Amino acid sequence: MKDRYTKDDKMADLLSTGEKLLQVVSRFGIPLGVGEKTIEQICNENNIDTKTFLIIVNFTYSAGSYDIKDLQIDLKTLQAYLQNTHIYLLKFFLPHIRRHLIDALGSSRNNDVTFLIIKFFDEYCSELNHHMEIEDSEIFSKFPDLIAGKKIRNLSTEITRMHTSPIEQKLSELKNLIIKYYSSQSGNDMLYNILQQLFLCEYDLYIHDRIETVLLLPEVKRLEERNQHNQSGEVDENNDREVQQELSDREKDIIIGVVKGLTNKEIAEKLFISVNTVTTHRRNIAKKLDIHSPSGLTIYAIVNKLVDIKEINL
Ligand SMILES: [Fe+2]
Ligand SMILES: [Fe+2]
Repeated sequence: MKDRYTKDDKMADLLSTGEKLLQVVSRFGIPLGVGEKTIEQICNENNIDTKTFLIIVNFTYSAGSYDIKDLQIDLKTLQAYLQNTHIYLLKFFLPHIRRHLIDALGSSRNNDVTFLIIKFFDEYCSELNHHMEIEDSEIFSKFPDLIAGKKIRNLSTEITRMHTSPIEQKLSELKNLIIKYYSSQSGNDMLYNILQQLFLCEYDLYIHDRIETVLLLPEVKRLEERNQHNQSGEVDENNDREVQQELSDREKDIIIGVVKGLTNKEIAEKLFISVNTVTTHRRNIAKKLDIHSPSGLTIYAIVNKLVDIKEINL
C-alpha cells in the first residue's frame, strides 16, 4: 500500500485504489481512458492544478489525517471540487440512497417505523441542502473577489460558524438506528446494501466537512489577511457592495414566487428546497434590495421584467 500519491505516479494506479479515490477523480471531471499517463500529465491535459489535486487525493486517501503544513492550495480548484461534491451528493447520491431506502424498508412490515425513518432521512437531506446552498451562494460565490484581492468581511468567520458540528452526525445516527432497532424478515440483503451506502455517504460527508475546515478555511483566512494589507482592497470594498446587490437566479425565482402570491411553503415545494432555505433567501433579498414588503418586490419584479404584470393578481 502506498503512503501517498505524487505527481509522477500513474493516474491508472490511483484510479485502481478503490471507490473513494474514484469519486475524487470523477469530481475533477477527468475522463477515463488514462492509459499510462502520470497524474501530472492528466492534470495538465485537463487544466487542473496538480498540487491541489494531490492534496485532495492524499487527504481523502489518508481519511483526513494527511499533514498539510505549508502546502499551497489553489482556491479556484478547491472551490470547483467542493461544488461538484455538493452536486454529486444532493442531486445523485442522496436521491439514490432514498430510492434504495424505500425499496429496502418497503418490503418490511414495520410501517410506522418505516415512515419515521424516511422522514428522518428527508429532514436530514433538507438540512444538508440548506447548508450547501448557503455555502454556494453566500461563501463560494465570493471567492473570485477574494482571489482578486478584494476585502470581504467575515468569510472565514462564516465558514467556522457553519461547521461547529460534524455534518455527517445525523446520518450516522440513522445508520445506528437501523442497525440496532430495525429488523426485517424479508429484504435483508437490501437492508445490508443500504447500510453500506450510508457508510459510504457518511465517509464522503466526513471528508467533505474536513476539507472545508482543514484545507479551505486556512486558505480563506490567508487570503483575507493578505487582502487586509493590500492597498487595492480599499478601493474594491466599494465594489463588494455592488456585487452583493446582484441577485442570484435562485433569489429571482423566490421573488417571482412571492409576487405571484405563493406562501414560503408553496415556493419551497415548487423549487424543491426547504422552507428554511426560502426564509434565508428572502432575508438576503431584503438585505440586498432594501425592499421588505411583497408589494415593494412586486414593483421591483415588474420593473426588472422578472414577471409580466398580467401574471399578477393586483
Ligand atoms: Fe460543503
Ligand atoms: Fe460545509
